[in-house]
Amino acid sequence: MPARDLLTFGRSLLEGEGPAVSSRHWPQGLRAAFPGPRTRVEAWRGEGASFARYATPHGPLFLKYVGRGQGSRRVFRRFAREVAYLRDLAPLVAVPHAPLRHAALDGSGGRAHLVTPDLAGETHGWGLFTTPEAQETALLDVARLLARFHAAWAGHPALRGEWRWNAAALLEDAARLAATWSGPHAAAVREAGVQLPGLLAHTRPHTLAHGDIHSGQVLWPQDGGAPVLIDYGQVHPSFPGEDLAHLLAVRLGVGERARCAGAVRAAYREELAAHGLRLSAADLAAEERAGVALNLLSTADQAGRARRGSGVWASLESVAGAWEHGA
Ligand SMILES: Nc1ncnc2c1ncn2[C@@H]1O[C@H](COP(=O)(O)OP(=O)(O)O)[C@@H](O)[C@H]1O
Ligand SMILES: [Mg+2]
Repeated sequence: MPARDLLTFGRSLLEGEGPAVSSRHWPQGLRAAFPGPRTRVEAWRGEGASFARYATPHGPLFLKYVGRGQGSRRVFRRFAREVAYLRDLAPLVAVPHAPLRHAALDGSGGRAHLVTPDLAGETHGWGLFTTPEAQETALLDVARLLARFHAAWAGHPALRGEWRWNAAALLEDAARLAATWSGPHAAAVREAGVQLPGLLAHTRPHTLAHGDIHSGQVLWPQDGGAPVLIDYGQVHPSFPGEDLAHLLAVRLGVGERARCAGAVRAAYREELAAHGLRLSAADLAAEERAGVALNLLSTADQAGRARRGSGVWASLESVAGAWEHGA
């Protein structure tokens, strides 16, 4: 980030400017950070956040904010985490991302926003890959980007405080969920809870997990440059297998998994090694198994809070299948 932008950013945080609640009306802090005329190019509402793209004299800007009626403790926590990651950690590693240009958080009101450069003009998303071959190639890009992320954070000295791995807290949550889950696949969920402590002993929990990795979290530059990893609201200290299992067992359908998992694992492992983290095929299998257990528990946890028939219930089927059939 250029020094001038850094100053503007620092000042706006100090002044405690309120977060945006609308794409049309910017709060004082945003107007001060990006003065001058702006054109709203596009605005839309997602499930847990709202978004807008602008043309401004400061370049194209992307706004992500808590829209009206979208606030909750969980949504706010995701924004706080994404802002903390983009502000404190992302600048420390060479993983392509959209750098933070502005942020505002209001915990008591449950409101938040963050601003990054708008990459829509120079990148495209997963949707442009329409053939199975193009999708498989692009999935390998996702796996490699994930490997870069994991390798960059493996043993990184900045993983202190809230970014430090806490196995005891994780195992406590897992045991509670495994003991109380009464939905589908209850036996598998219980078994994953019982086995998790032993499985974790064979992982390398000194990195960060993206926490929500799937093909929609990557933007591909139109000029063929390095793909960009986005959406850091669920980043947390973990072991490499958690994200790998999420990608393979939670996010891919059965057919896609059967077709692509081998190539995804190979691309992931090769890229990890290229960035200094060497895992044998057996190490990786142990990582993935622990990751499937953890994803089964966390997906059941999410399903418990979601409508029956929503996507997370389908994910639960998928990850339970991976657990039961040995991934
Ligand atoms: N910096 C950016 N520039 C342009 N588009 C972006 C940018 N960041 C995210 N997007 C687009 O907005 C969508 C939602 O953003 P994301 O951070 O993934 O939010 P969510 O938490 O709702 O998934 C992405 O899938 C992508 O299409
Ligand atoms: Mg996303």
